[in-house]
Amino acid sequence: MTTATELEHFSINVEDGIAVVTMDRADQEMNTLGPPLMTDFERVLDRLETDDAIIGVVLTSAKKDFLVGADVKWFAELTDPEEATAAIQAGHALFARLEQLHTTRHKPVVAAIRGAALGGGLELALACSHRVVDDDPSTVLGQPEVKLGVIPAGGGCVRLPRLIGVAEALDIILTGKNVRPAKARKLGLVDDIAPARYLLEVATRLAASARTAAVPTKRGVSAFLSNLSGDRLQRLALETNPVGQSVLFKQARQKLLAETHGNYPAQERALEAVRLGVQDGVDAGYRAEARFFGELVTSSESLALRSIFFGTRELAKDSGASDLDVEPSTVDKVAVLGGGLMGGGIAAVSTLNAGATVRVKEVDAPGVERALRYVRKVLDEQVKRRRLRDFDAEKAMLAVTGDTDWRGFADTDLVIEAVFEDLDLKRSILTEVEGIIGEHAVFASNTSTIPITQIAEASSRPENVLGMHYFSPVEKMPLLEVIVTKSTSDTATATAVAFGRRQGKTVIVVNDGPGFYTSRIIAPYSNEALRLLEEGAAIEAIDKALVKWGFPVGPLLLADEVGLDVGQKVTKIMVDAFGDRMAGPEVLSGTKDRKGRKNRKGFYLYDEKGKRGNADESIYAELGLGPRREVPIQEIQERVTMMMVNEAALCLQEGILRSARDGDIGAVMGLGFPPFRGGPFWYVDEVGAPAIVDRLQGLAARHGSRFEPAAILVAAAENGTTFR
Ligand code: NAI
Repeated sequence: MTTATELEHFSINVEDGIAVVTMDRADQEMNTLGPPLMTDFERVLDRLETDDAIIGVVLTSAKKDFLVGADVKWFAELTDPEEATAAIQAGHALFARLEQLHTTRHKPVVAAIRGAALGGGLELALACSHRVVDDDPSTVLGQPEVKLGVIPAGGGCVRLPRLIGVAEALDIILTGKNVRPAKARKLGLVDDIAPARYLLEVATRLAASARTAAVPTKRGVSAFLSNLSGDRLQRLALETNPVGQSVLFKQARQKLLAETHGNYPAQERALEAVRLGVQDGVDAGYRAEARFFGELVTSSESLALRSIFFGTRELAKDSGASDLDVEPSTVDKVAVLGGGLMGGGIAAVSTLNAGATVRVKEVDAPGVERALRYVRKVLDEQVKRRRLRDFDAEKAMLAVTGDTDWRGFADTDLVIEAVFEDLDLKRSILTEVEGIIGEHAVFASNTSTIPITQIAEASSRPENVLGMHYFSPVEKMPLLEVIVTKSTSDTATATAVAFGRRQGKTVIVVNDGPGFYTSRIIAPYSNEALRLLEEGAAIEAIDKALVKWGFPVGPLLLADEVGLDVGQKVTKIMVDAFGDRMAGPEVLSGTKDRKGRKNRKGFYLYDEKGKRGNADESIYAELGLGPRREVPIQEIQERVTMMMVNEAALCLQEGILRSARDGDIGAVMGLGFPPFRGGPFWYVDEVGAPAIVDRLQGLAARHGSRFEPAAILVAAAENGTTFR
């Protein structure tokens, strides 16, 4: 028999005593947790509790995902910490009712999960008695809340450690990482994995049979003991005695602070909520969740992180073209010129993510082979991480071919050039390839500094020429900077943006100029670090200062990674274009064959295998630098970061950037600008333009005119305007 209840966002179908509750948010494309869904869910619970014909429940979704988390827009309405805390408590009450369906009413509740069950979605599933997932590659579980500067506050900090153990739960909660079905099964996070088409059937059967089994009253430790052996058992022993627990939490905190430098309060609070839930009991855990969430959702860190989230989402819908009606051309076939580090990566994401047919051209057979090996390595890694099936990896590999001649280029839709950084070479290749490809094909250069306009001078169809600037390693870095010249057509721009998005990138479009946006703002940042070195600061002191400020690596280590020789070339291009403001100190001209990591000789020491050690102190003498002196950390941070922030402002002022939002996303995703600061423009707004201008003027007085604040900053300070 089937009965239905009138609900807006849910349907309930009861058959043989099992109620299949299907979430289907009517007002949104995806299921997200927020007031509309919760209000309806209350009525669902009323029915499940009181209908005696219902003996078990399956909770599932009609969307492609189970439930992707809280509605992040709703966070913006929570401007008062106490109100936010109260909203969380209301959620707790609902989830408790869901839990009591099985703990006190003995009606098993099985979450049948396809697609993403993230944040509040996973927490909803955790309040069920059982979880079954399907085996689709899109199915993932996780608690990504810390990425938005908040914590799992729908019971995740309490229920997850009870289900899978403290160490594993912390690993998921503090990193925000996704867990795939096989791993989830191993952790005891899910009870079963079903083939996609049998998901509901398996879940329904479980809901019916679980009823006859003993209902676990105290879940957790004992529930998954049987699954364990070896080191996990040892860790568990540590977790289950109070002394062991204290040690574990203390270690976790030390490790966390070493990684975050105190810049991410959400991670610290999440750890504390988990601790309270484990050591002081579930109620203490829930209380902590609600209180911490209230504090965090209104914090500057969370606001900054959410601005990046929303900025990225806006960019995902932005065609990049100024004419909104322009459609991108179809790209089925891509050619990659030069299959080195960058070309190999570009080929990989073009087949793996974009599903295009890829043709690589190299100078010789070993070059071709190197490129194909790179693609293979990327695909293998995906298979290993269970993000890709073997069969699909083979298919993706078959779509990539390579050669040393122009065969297969005639019907190419997009050419991406990634040969050496040499203007003449890039120009001659452009002229040559234009003789072979069709009129419609777009030509993109992956140059990191050469103005696209200069390359396009060699073109007979400059409207089809632009830059697609990727970051290394291409398969990992999320940003693509598309560079357009005055001649680039809207169609070409939209085509490059759409294809970049298919490759999995967040794409910003910037106007042409030396260094475009990202390479331009990193140059004065690196230069200032070198000046500090010249003035006596130690290598490690400089790098540590910037890491503490929130960058993933310091500027000198970054220089080693990029290559000291490459850095010097970039500086030359920038000085030619912008004059002294971009001039680095001369220190590096004295280096003897120091190229950084690639020849294992840079600011740091590298062993035979390329493993990095301490700073290479012999560099001081080699460069004729005197003894090191203590430079206050704040001075290092201020000088180096202000150079970048000011340069970003100049890029907006000169129209290189189309918006402050793009500048923020570009700096965070391309250069590792601290996400919790939201990007250079968000940071200026947060600190206040008047204070930033003061700071720059002070630095200019002490250290020189390169710190003169951009006019756009001065104007913002005078007019009291903000950038975002
Ligand atoms: P790479 O040296 O690893 O690769 C360049 C490849 O181009 C080599 O395999 C070479 O054999 C091939 N090549 C040279 N002349 C060619 C020709 N006439 N036809 C076909 N292939 C040819 O260099 P990488 O690092 O991949 O850089 C390539 C481009 O990407 C450069 O313009 C660089 O500035 C830019 N770039 C590099 C980044 C990096 O982090 N390495 C980041 C962003 C852009």
